[in-house]
Amino acid sequence: MAENTPDDGKRPSYYVTTPIYYVNAAPHLGTAYSTILADVQARFRRAMGYDVMFLTGLDEHGEKVAASAAEHDMTPQQWCDSQVPAFDDLWKTLEITNDDFIRTTEPRQTASVQHLWEVLKERGYIYKGSYDGWYCVPEETYFTETQVAHSDEANHTEGAHLCPDCGRPLERVQEESWFFKLSEFQKPLLDLYRDHPEFVEPEIRRNEVVSFVEGGLKDLSISRTSFDWGIPLPFDERHVTYVWFDALINYLTAVGYGDDSPEAAATLARRWPAQTHIVGKDIIRFHCVIWPAMLMAAGLPVPERVFVHGFLMVRNEETGAGEKMSKSRGNAIAPAEVIDMLGVEGYRYYFMTDVEPGTDGAVSFSRMEQVYNTDLANSWGNLVSRTLNMSAKFFEGKTPVLPEGWTTAASPLRDAADGLLDRYAADMADFAYGKAAEEVMALVHAANHHIEDTEPWALAKDPVRADELACVIGDLLESIRICAHLLEPFTPETSAEVLRRISCEGEIGSTDLATACEWGAIPQDVPVTKGDALFPRLGTPGK
Ligand code: MSP
Repeated sequence: MAENTPDDGKRPSYYVTTPIYYVNAAPHLGTAYSTILADVQARFRRAMGYDVMFLTGLDEHGEKVAASAAEHDMTPQQWCDSQVPAFDDLWKTLEITNDDFIRTTEPRQTASVQHLWEVLKERGYIYKGSYDGWYCVPEETYFTETQVAHSDEANHTEGAHLCPDCGRPLERVQEESWFFKLSEFQKPLLDLYRDHPEFVEPEIRRNEVVSFVEGGLKDLSISRTSFDWGIPLPFDERHVTYVWFDALINYLTAVGYGDDSPEAAATLARRWPAQTHIVGKDIIRFHCVIWPAMLMAAGLPVPERVFVHGFLMVRNEETGAGEKMSKSRGNAIAPAEVIDMLGVEGYRYYFMTDVEPGTDGAVSFSRMEQVYNTDLANSWGNLVSRTLNMSAKFFEGKTPVLPEGWTTAASPLRDAADGLLDRYAADMADFAYGKAAEEVMALVHAANHHIEDTEPWALAKDPVRADELACVIGDLLESIRICAHLLEPFTPETSAEVLRRISCEGEIGSTDLATACEWGAIPQDVPVTKGDALFPRLGTPGK
């Protein structure tokens, strides 16, 4: 893998992306899921000192988009522009911290795609031919006669020509087309998966990709002439770029590809290859087969990792089974419904910690309520509220002054915090967000138990035990401070609020998690603010 050169000699670059979403559909629970997964990783990496570049955006070309525009009596560009605010608004609401937002209709994308065409032509990886086969417009995917025949057999619909992926009718395409020599990349791709197993994670997806590539690769049709809503080929203007070819290149465009200024060249050298592309399991062939082959053909390094997440399913409360979410089934959940119920922070926490990203996860309102109440209201929120109340009550609205030696004194909470960051960081880097949150919750639970065990209210009645009381409250505040840092990627605003309440606002946005999590940094004799409940309890669980 290419070297990840730090710009200032210290901070390594971490470039993370989401898929760019189709403008045609409003953002939904699934697209928000991909985006929050990336946001949590970006926040975690920033806290670990990386120089993060987090990219998301929109996929705006293709036949489907042109058709929707026509239905709405708009030009394709007007239609795309009209769709942008819905994404912008939701990402802002969900506290998404992307550094750039790319749209494939921007001039920088045209320049970059056209540059890649030239490079591929020069390097001999494309040729002009004619395409005769099937095309699924909703899925923007080509299929061969054999693939279609199999799907028709399976559906008992001989002659109907249905999409093997989505089952909808296919379009017959017979036209002149430029082809990409994908067939030449079988061996280099198999070598890549073998030498860099981390290129596709989790393993189950890697196996899927390997067996697909082992089955043989055909050259790919990458231009169309029957419509014009796309990026024209620089050397054959009647052709527009196949929408997936166009879309994948966005990851390069955003870091300067196709721009010949020295600044862009420096950005590209620093940011490419990307550290992680986050994608759903439905689009792995594009990202794990076509994309690395395109990059190899262009003489560019491939990304370090494609992390593939599963699909969100809706849990059927009667059968307990997960069902595909869809408007026609009437079981689709809108992000706004979840935000109304859990708030933004509860939303992020639930999806990031209760849905194992490597597999399909069944979600339900009752489970949302349960996770929110158990972890956020009853454990974390309750710990903060009790601790701040006691600190304020026993120490005149302040944090205690701690006896000499407190930092190194034996304490069950200090023990519980010991090694926590290492375990948490390993899980976070692996997208095991649920496990990482569990590690933090273990400290939260230990702190809540410590309150029961030490009974600070009893200690407060005995002046002889004043030091003991200060130590208990100090331990609790210190645990809260550390948990606030570790929970920041999931619940950023709450973490900032907790740090403000204990006069640690200077630590908000820390980019040195190791130092921030060192035991003993709680400031002494500074104001504490009790404030409102961070996570008011929701109605009866399971209702
Ligand atoms: N435009 C392409 C991506 C091009 S990237 C170069 C595309 N767009 S999309 O809008 O259809 O969706 C993108 C992402 O949303 C994918 O990662 C997909 O897996 C995810 N999801 C869509 N529905 C989903 C669920 N029900 N659950 C989880 N994620 C799902 O594909």
